[in-house]
Amino acid sequence: MPSESSVAEHYAESDLLAAIRAGMVTLGKTEATVSVEDLAPVDEFHIGGKIATTELCDRLGITEETELLDIGCGIGGPARFIASTSGCQVTGIDLTPSYLDVAEQLTRWTGLSLQVRFEVGSALEMPFDDGSFDRATQLHVGMNIADKAALFAEVYRVLRPGGRFGIYDVMRFSEDEISYPVPWASNNSMDYASGVTTYRDALSEAGFEVAEERNRSEFAIEFFAGLKARTAGMGGPPPLGLHIHMGPGAPSKIANMVEAVTAGIMAPVEIICDKLS
Ligand SMILES: C[S@@+](CC[C@H](N)C(=O)[O-])C[C@H]1O[C@@H](n2cnc3c(N)ncnc32)[C@H](O)[C@@H]1O
Repeated sequence: MPSESSVAEHYAESDLLAAIRAGMVTLGKTEATVSVEDLAPVDEFHIGGKIATTELCDRLGITEETELLDIGCGIGGPARFIASTSGCQVTGIDLTPSYLDVAEQLTRWTGLSLQVRFEVGSALEMPFDDGSFDRATQLHVGMNIADKAALFAEVYRVLRPGGRFGIYDVMRFSEDEISYPVPWASNNSMDYASGVTTYRDALSEAGFEVAEERNRSEFAIEFFAGLKARTAGMGGPPPLGLHIHMGPGAPSKIANMVEAVTAGIMAPVEIICDKLS
């Protein structure tokens, strides 16, 4: 199993905030004028960006009264997007401290500090009381966590009865080898992408009832094609994009992921499940 510190090291990118600020300047934005929308291309660190976040959240029944937990929140893009579009309260938790420094700054700039807060910590041992949240989300995080049963037992614990949990992870559809690095792993020793059955079994063992499951492979392939066309059209990546997030290894991480998804070895999958009582 990968140590949590090696996972955090894989993600830590030096000067991420400075790189985001430089991209904002190119777009003519300042700390006072930048919006959640402007930041979405760089702070939604999963296949499909804010479209994928919207589609996941549409299935969760989030209202202004909802207290939502975003597990493995990264630099907080999904947390800010959900808070700003629904008016709910969001708590993000993540293993990578430097990500949360960036998350807090971007949240201040976008004026969402009263709605969105962050905690450094592991999804396997969260610093929250039992039954603290109405909803939980997890976007592209499970690929770093070997023990899915422990993860889902912990999510179940912190949700209230009647709570709903939305997962959007990259899952394995065959044992064929893939090339590394990919966005979530420098090598195969930290790649814990699992099959859908592993998810279903671990969720049911934790007490969840699966309400819905959607393979998002076609959506992913269309998203990659759009990204490629936009990049070619602009003669390079946009001022704010996921390449900033992934550092110098970005082109190979993206190419290897696209190859694995296009070959049908991996695909992003959504699972919506409920804590009934
Ligand atoms: C690919 S990023 C996705 C970030 C965010 N969910 C998003 O979609 O923008 C995966 C994130 O999961 C976090 N992570 C991985 N393992 C974790 C764990 N055991 N506990 C908490 N966070 C974890 C990483 O630090 C990283 O920020």
